[in-house]
This record gives sequence, structure tokens and C-alpha cells, in this order.
Amino acid sequence: MNQTCQYVTSSLELHLFFARIMKEHALFLEAGFTPVNASLAQEAERLKVEFEALLLRAVRLADHGIIRCKVLRSGEIITEFTARAEQQTQRLTGIAISKEITQLETALTCGKDTDPKPEFVREIRELNQKALRLVGSLIRFKERIIANVDSCRMFTMNYPLLIKHILREAKLYQSYLVQLESGKPADDRFMRQTEQFWNRIMMEHALFIRGLLDPTEEALIKASNDFAKDYAKLLEVSSARNELANKNTAEASLRETLQFRDFKAAGAKGILNCEVQSIILPLLADHVLREANHYIRLLSK
Ligand SMILES: [Fe+2]
Ligand SMILES: [Fe+2]
Repeated sequence: MNQTCQYVTSSLELHLFFARIMKEHALFLEAGFTPVNASLAQEAERLKVEFEALLLRAVRLADHGIIRCKVLRSGEIITEFTARAEQQTQRLTGIAISKEITQLETALTCGKDTDPKPEFVREIRELNQKALRLVGSLIRFKERIIANVDSCRMFTMNYPLLIKHILREAKLYQSYLVQLESGKPADDRFMRQTEQFWNRIMMEHALFIRGLLDPTEEALIKASNDFAKDYAKLLEVSSARNELANKNTAEASLRETLQFRDFKAAGAKGILNCEVQSIILPLLADHVLREANHYIRLLSK
């Protein structure tokens, strides 16, 4: 793949994963505010709409078979549950969710090695610039909420750690965009940092799931607690070891995350079928599943 082709492909793959993640973060924030913060809920709604427009543009541009098949098939863009999770979440919260994007994503194709025209590359550059502006706004928004929550000036139904967690994910998206726009390909040269980043994210997902399950769901609470402990151990080992020992920890992370992915998929199914009691939005269940799929793809290199 030449450099231009790689730029185009990496950009679109990045947006297909992260722009969706960002629009869903905006939705989770919106759903978590109480009436006293109605204007913040409106701000979150605007951000969600803007990220949906960005994602729709990315999906339309990717509709030329440009993205790699391993990305399309990884389950990080959409899963078998996404459309239903969106329908249910919209019904349960009253927050509108674009169905069109998910439909178009279902029809995406992959693996066509083309030589993108200058006009197309220009469109991608514009898209990346738009994404940088938007993610900057979302980062500032999340930071404002964190400052208010940390000083007890605000109450939201989202855990403080969850808001910090989604801030870190937004900053990762931003750093990839900066890297892409500086002319470097957005691949993961620094696997060790990537592994630590995502192991921490996975650990926190386990902690969120543990805390958002109904207290009567004892078996699931125990299972999520065990996952959190496993990831804590992996984090401890990978921060103590040097680069040479990296391969082993990557294999251990992969094994753990494959199991955690299955647990999340079962959880998403249980929530969608009303078989699990929790305060987890169906779309949040699908969201954390996609993040596991994304991490598994990175680890499978
Ligand atoms: Fe997320
Ligand atoms: Fe996450």
C-alpha cells in the first residue's frame, strides 16, 4: 500500500471506530444528567449530532471498499447487537439515534486496493480537520464535567471514573488524528503503551459492569470482579517488565480479552433480551464489546 492509500485507509478506519465511540459517549453523558443540568444535556446532544454527521461522512467515503477486511470483520465498527441496542436505547431514553449510519455500515465492503484521486484525499483531509475540531470540543466538555463533579458542584448518574475513562479515549483519538495529519501512519508502533492503555480500559469496563449490575446479579458481579482483578495483574506485570518480555504479556492480554469479549457479548445479549437486571444501557453494553473487539484486533497483529 502506498503512503496516500495508507493515509486514506487509516483515516477512515480510525473514524469508523472512534467517531461512533465519541457519539455514544455524548449520548451516555446526555442520558446521565439530571434536570438541573438540562443545558449540559443539550450541549451533549449537539455534540452527538455533530459526531453523527462526521461518522456518516466517513461511512459514505469508506463505501468504496477502501478499508481493510480485518478491520471490517473485527466487530469494532458494529456488532450483531448494534442495531437492536440502538433501537432499545432510543426507546428507553428518548434520545434520538441515527439508524441510517448503522444500516450503511452493515453494507460496507473491504479490501479493494485503489489509488485515491487527489480530490478524494482532500476530502479525507477535511474530514480529519473536522474530527480534530470536534474531538477538541468533546474533550473540553468532558473536562468541564469532571471539574464540576470532582468539586461536588454537579451530580450525574455517570461514575466520575467513567467520565475520566471516556476522556482518555477521546484523547487517544485526538493523538491518532494529530499523528495522521503530521504525515505519519497511524499504526501502533508502541505496542507496550497500547497494551497498557487498553488493559486499563478493560479493567475499568469490568469495574463499571460490576457496579452497574443489579445487586441481585451476584454471579455476574463476581465474574466482572474477577476480570477486573485479572487486568490489574496484567497491568502490574507489564509495567514491571521490560520490552523483551513483552510478547508473553501480549499473549496473556489477548487470552484474557478473548474471554472478556465473550463475557461482554453474553452480557449484551442478556440485557437486550431483558434477562439481566442492571442500569446498563443496551448501547453501553454493545459499546464496551466493540472496544474489546478493537483491542483484540490490535493484539492479533
Ligand atoms: Fe468508550
Ligand atoms: Fe471504554
